[in-house]
Amino acid sequence: MKTLAIYYSYNGNSALIADLLKLSANADTLRLEVENAKHRKGFLKYFFGGWQVVLGKKPTLKPLTVNFDDYELIIIGGPVWAGSPAPALLSFLTKYPLQGKRVALFCCCASGNAGMATERMKALLKGNVVEGEIVFQNPLNNDKNEVAKKVGAWIKELVK
Ligand SMILES: Cc1cc2nc3c(=O)[nH]c(=O)nc-3n(C[C@H](O)[C@H](O)[C@H](O)COP(=O)(O)O)c2cc1C
Repeated sequence: MKTLAIYYSYNGNSALIADLLKLSANADTLRLEVENAKHRKGFLKYFFGGWQVVLGKKPTLKPLTVNFDDYELIIIGGPVWAGSPAPALLSFLTKYPLQGKRVALFCCCASGNAGMATERMKALLKGNVVEGEIVFQNPLNNDKNEVAKKVGAWIKELVK
């Protein structure tokens, strides 16, 4: 099954999951990049990121060249920001509305509780079949083999 993993990552956790999806499912990966992104650290990262969520911002993404029809399964994932999907994910889901696809979602977060993130993504994916969802708690802080096992088990369920 041809699989595409579309992801946004600010600090590398979601990028790790995308890399593992590439390894375990031979997925193509597509990283969402924000135009004129500023890479803030510490308090400013949470402050500006949180405000973007509160204000409902959908930052402009760098153009994507992908044909979604080439894929049977599309995995979409990224970090939870203030209990929601990071704004770049909302930009993607609104700018590129998918229809009639098999979809699966992953979230990375610090707490292990994705809040409303998956529900908000699902709401923007009406007309598709969401076949799975999974949450990773800051995977970069965990044993990479354990994370790889979790990703592998998940993808096995999805492609069987
Ligand atoms: C602006 C901002 C808001 C965040 N809000 C949450 C949150 O509401 N809940 C949570 O568990 N983690 C939150 N986090 C932590 C990230 O979701 C978590 O570290 C995630 O693994 C980062 O993924 P990334 O490295 O792919 O960017 C937040 C991080 C940022 C930068």
